[in-house]
Amino acid sequence: MTDYHCHLLPCIDDGPSSLAESIEMARLLSRAGYHTIYCTPHLIKGLYEADNNTVKKGVADLQEALNREGIGLKLLCGREYFLDNNFIDFMNDLMPLEGTPYLLIEIPPHTYTGMVQDTLTAIIRHNLIPLIAHPERCELFRERQITDQPRKVSRLKNLLHRSTALHQPAITQESNDNKLLNWLIENRCAFQSNLPSFKGSYGEQAQSTANYLESLGIYTHAGTDAHTPESLEKLFGFNPQ
Ligand SMILES: [Fe+2]
Repeated sequence: MTDYHCHLLPCIDDGPSSLAESIEMARLLSRAGYHTIYCTPHLIKGLYEADNNTVKKGVADLQEALNREGIGLKLLCGREYFLDNNFIDFMNDLMPLEGTPYLLIEIPPHTYTGMVQDTLTAIIRHNLIPLIAHPERCELFRERQITDQPRKVSRLKNLLHRSTALHQPAITQESNDNKLLNWLIENRCAFQSNLPSFKGSYGEQAQSTANYLESLGIYTHAGTDAHTPESLEKLFGFNPQ
């Protein structure tokens, strides 16, 4: 299994605060059956600002440490970009998930649809594919906004298929109430679910939205979004050693 969203690097964001903690997380991920982990530290101006070279060195150093410990995980580079007004500052040096065109993007809980569309359009013009991190946690995709008209679900499924298979816009205004979701599908964005969302770790709203988006077949990637060993123990149901 591959974890497409994980805060595994030590001392770079709000993830593990020591190498020992990172190694503990790596052991848990390996034990759960993962073999590849994308290390995706936050990039938020004014809060977590490590540059891309720091991320690359962090991944190389942690990979060495895991090799020494005999933990069979392959680490790859990534970032979790925060889509706010400062994102534009990073536009000329974007780091997609290593070896892929996917750029992991967190849409803030409360933001404006127009700003999201403008920024994602700029990303797409860089020949990258926005990978929307945990949309189930974003206010803009709340379940009630997209479940008010359940009769339209099957139509959305068809439209999703068409938009990816035929590479042409296929969403109509009547297809779904959530215009931003339609726009993202139409522009061939990808979607990453947080596995803890399905267990209710972020509350009932995120859980029900995750289940609904899953039922639509929206998700293309999954991640733990783990920040600590404890969060992984909870997710996997492991007892602390
Ligand atoms: Fe994250």
